[in-house]
Amino acid sequence: MLRFDTDKMKDLDPTSLQHLAPLHGVLMGKEIVENWKEVEQFQARPDDVYISTYPKAGTTWMSEIVDMIFCEGDQEKCRREAIYNRVPYLELRIPGSPSGVEQLQVAPSPRLVKTHLPIHLMPESIWDKNCKVIYVARNAKDVAVSYFFFHNMVKALPDPGPLDHFLNNYNKGNVSYGSWYDHVNGWWEKRQEYRILYLFYEDLKENPKREILKVLHFLEKEMSDSLVDKIVQHTSFQEMKNNEMVNYKTIPNEFLDQSETSFMRKGIAGDWKNHFTVAQNEIFDEEYNRQMAGKNLHFRTEI
Ligand code: A3P
Repeated sequence: MLRFDTDKMKDLDPTSLQHLAPLHGVLMGKEIVENWKEVEQFQARPDDVYISTYPKAGTTWMSEIVDMIFCEGDQEKCRREAIYNRVPYLELRIPGSPSGVEQLQVAPSPRLVKTHLPIHLMPESIWDKNCKVIYVARNAKDVAVSYFFFHNMVKALPDPGPLDHFLNNYNKGNVSYGSWYDHVNGWWEKRQEYRILYLFYEDLKENPKREILKVLHFLEKEMSDSLVDKIVQHTSFQEMKNNEMVNYKTIPNEFLDQSETSFMRKGIAGDWKNHFTVAQNEIFDEEYNRQMAGKNLHFRTEI
C-alpha cells in the first residue's frame, strides 16, 4: 500500500496550496488542475466502487459504511488504516505525498475510491468499465455551513471571510469544486445512464439501516441483520467522532486545524438554522429557487 504521507505535510506551507484555478468551468485546487492529465487518464477497474459527493455531504460517513461492508462488519479490519488510505481520494494532489491516482494504481482490488468531481469531469474509464458509484447529496444550506467551517480549518483552502461573503461565493460557484447546484443536478440527471446509487444525507440521518440496506443491495452483497446493526452502530456520528481512523486527527494541525472546530463537527440536518440570519436565509432562498427552477431533484423542505 502506498500511504498518504502525513509527515511530509509538516514540511509544506499549506497556504501555498490555497490558489484555485478553473478546469472546464469548475474551480479546483491549482495542483489538481495543473496535473489534470493524470486524473483524466486514470484507469478504472470493473470492481472499483466510487463514493462521490460535493464536499461536506457525508463522504467520510459513506466511505466508512462501504469499507465496513467490504470488511464484512469487522471493525478491527476497518481500523487497519486511516480512511484516506483505505479509500484514496482520486484527484487529490499534495506536493511531496503520493497523489490519489498513484495510491490507487498500486492498491489491490476491489478498490474503494473517494471523489468530489462533478460528473462531467469523471475519468472516462470509470464509465467504460461500468463501475458502480454511490453518490451522496446533502441539502445546500447545511453543506454551505459545514463547508464554511471546513474552510476555517483547512489551511490549504482560501480564507472564507465572513459567512455572508462565503455564502455569496458558494451560491455563485466561486469555491473549490464549483457550484453545489451543478454538482447535485449533474449527478442526478445521469443516475439512470450509469450505475449510480443516488442517496441523501438526510435519509441516512433519518434511518441509517434502511439506507445501508440500499447500499448492500446496490453492491449485490448480503449480510445478516446483526452485522447490519453493527455497521449502523460503528458508523454513528458519536462513534466516528471518537475514531482516530476516520476523524482526521491524524492529519497535522498545521493543515487541518481542529482546535476550535472538529472535522466531525455536528453531524445533524438543519444546523444552518443556527447560523443563517433571517436576511441571509432570504437571499439564499431566492438564489436557491432561481437555480433549482425546473429541476426534478427535490430536497426535504422541512429541514
Ligand atoms: P458537519 O460539519 O455539518 O458536522 P465530508 O465527509 O463529506 O467532508 O462531510 C463532513 C460532514 O459530515 C460533517 O458535517 C460531519 O460532521 C458529517 N459526518 C461525518 N460522519 C458522520 C456520521 N457518522 N453521521 C452524521 N454526520 C457525519
